[in-house]
Amino acid sequence: MAKRDGFNLYENKSNLKWVVLAISVIIGGGSIFYTNFLVEKLQDRERSFIRLYAKTLEFTLSESVTINQDINFISEEIIYQNNSIPMIIMDSLGVIYGARNIEIDSSWTRARINNKLRSMVASMKKDYPPIRIAPIDQSTGQPYLVQYLYYKNSALLTQLTYYPYVQLSVIAIFGFIAYMAFNYSRVAEQNRVWVGMAKETAHQLGTPISSLMAWIEHLKTDPGIKDVTILEELDKDVHKLGLITERFSNIGSVPKLTNEDIMAEVERVIAYLRPRISSKVEMKVRGMNEQIFAQINVALFEWVIENVCKNAVDAMGGEGKLEINVLEGSDWRVFVDISDTGKGINPSKVKQVFNPGFTTKQRGWGLGLALAKRIIENYHKGKIYVKSTTVDHGTTFRIVLNRLHDSSYIP
Ligand SMILES: Nc1ncnc2c1ncn2[C@@H]1O[C@H](COP(=O)(O)OP(=O)(O)OP(=O)(O)O)[C@@H](O)[C@H]1O
Ligand SMILES: [Mg+2]
Repeated sequence: MAKRDGFNLYENKSNLKWVVLAISVIIGGGSIFYTNFLVEKLQDRERSFIRLYAKTLEFTLSESVTINQDINFISEEIIYQNNSIPMIIMDSLGVIYGARNIEIDSSWTRARINNKLRSMVASMKKDYPPIRIAPIDQSTGQPYLVQYLYYKNSALLTQLTYYPYVQLSVIAIFGFIAYMAFNYSRVAEQNRVWVGMAKETAHQLGTPISSLMAWIEHLKTDPGIKDVTILEELDKDVHKLGLITERFSNIGSVPKLTNEDIMAEVERVIAYLRPRISSKVEMKVRGMNEQIFAQINVALFEWVIENVCKNAVDAMGGEGKLEINVLEGSDWRVFVDISDTGKGINPSKVKQVFNPGFTTKQRGWGLGLALAKRIIENYHKGKIYVKSTTVDHGTTFRIVLNRLHDSSYIP
């Protein structure tokens, strides 16, 4: 069945969304995991380098000045190799002996430089424990001039730590923009289809209806027709067809909103529906005031109320209570609450009921609420949502409309 296909399409679409999300999470997680692995490797390398550096320094300081040139040369090679890892050498009394790879402006005063180095030592201490350098005095055989080497990750390593997060954020932002653009064009296309179909339907219905009207008028003057009630019924049906055409033509153009009494409109729809539904359904319309005005397009609004009420009757299986409450909000809004005592909506399905094609009925198209949502949100700038629902107890749909802002207006 075609409608079942439509329903499955929705299910598949939301499944696809989860698959895409899962793949994105796997790619994101994998990228972070791999970069962390690289970071750890690099970190190990930097740490062993800095240990070698400290050892070399200790060794150089331990040797007497007359040491052979080769060792001096090797030591210097190692010491001057370090041009990326920031480090500071300080003794236990806080005297700073040297610093490497730390940005210091030559115009700074000594005090400022000292302050900067000391605050860096404090933060370095948190990252790694300092390495102790204890050179041996050759004449006494005892350590002298004990110093501590403080260090932190090189700028490259720090950048690499943040890199995957920056990269993933950029990709996420790009993905989001692409998704929005795609969604926008999809919605625009849907709009064109809705509007196009509606216009075409109204257009196509127009000709046969006016011809039918002409035929009815012709028959009315025919003395051969005995049963006039047939003509009256025909007239009613053609009138209804005309109303349907008006609805479609309104959907296909920018509909005119007028200030109308919602109570009267709702009563009118109920009066129309009453003879068409089971007498075991009790119908009641209640309002805060006798008249409550809001901005609506009559033909479209009636369509919405009709759709929501029909769903309510379906949900009650032809027996129960249908109640419409019209309320006036303090903020220029009007609420129309439509409650039934039907079977309710499964919590997992509440979000889907407005999707075109979503239906749980054998003979449903799943278009009633999609159309209602469109009419209320796009044409009335209002809202429609499931206000409450309990399985096996009933559902309340709420429609929010706008009132005229001009307080001097007297209806
Ligand atoms: N008052 C309600 N109580 C319980 N379920 C509801 C109610 N209103 C809507 N639903 C659920 O939402 C689904 C979608 O409603 P919608 O009016 O869009 O389509 P439909 O009634 O199935 O078909 P149609 O296109 O003929 O209106 C229904 O099939 C039903 O499962
Ligand atoms: Mg319906």
